[in-house]
Amino acid sequence: MPLILETIVTTLSPAGELHLVPFGLIQDGTDLILAPFRPSPTILNLEASPCFAASSPRDVRVIAGCVTGRRDWPVVPCHRIRGRRLADSFAHAEFEVVDVEEDPVRPRYRGRMVHEASHAPFLGYNRAQGAVLEAAILSTRLHMLEPEKILSEMRYLAIAISKTAGPREREAWDWIEDKVAAALGRDDRILANPDAA
Ligand SMILES: Cc1cc2nc3c(=O)[nH]c(=O)nc-3n(C[C@H](O)[C@H](O)[C@H](O)COP(=O)(O)O)c2cc1C
Repeated sequence: MPLILETIVTTLSPAGELHLVPFGLIQDGTDLILAPFRPSPTILNLEASPCFAASSPRDVRVIAGCVTGRRDWPVVPCHRIRGRRLADSFAHAEFEVVDVEEDPVRPRYRGRMVHEASHAPFLGYNRAQGAVLEAAILSTRLHMLEPEKILSEMRYLAIAISKTAGPREREAWDWIEDKVAAALGRDDRILANPDAA
């Protein structure tokens, strides 16, 4: 399996509107492959303007926010491509699409890096941030998974939240818990009452 980097991808519509979403970029040599499922605004934007930026967010609420209807995060202009990137990021890179593998379900856009820059020091991994990342991905697959599978994964991830989260991670987790609870028709929250889950 190739390495996959979870990033915040930004593209621009032909009208110049920003589209900001989390994507796992697949490493292939020195290129990174962006593979959105159809239908997708990212695909429409790439067809009109074949370039994108990928940012590593410092605040994990950006990832949780994007999958819970909160996409209005500060951005700044890109350096080499027409576009904008997430402002509060450890680093970002800009890509031009040099090849497209068409597919009716999930086309693959090969991004060649034309610029990269670091913006903030990275001091260490945090388990709660990893748990929010996993829960965010889980929350985009609720329609494909059995409720018991969703709840057992959330129960496990909640351990890292309860032990290692700061306020931002906690808030991000709460957004995802609300989404999962609404989808499953639940009133209580796993973190508040793990035994009831
Ligand atoms: C960490 C993370 C990684 C994701 N990676 C992908 C991906 O590689 N492909 C995809 O289609 N959706 C992925 N998703 C889901 C998309 O972010 C979400 O469905 C988004 O709305 C799709 O972008 P679009 O609005 O341009 O279609 C990911 C979500 C998260 C939280």
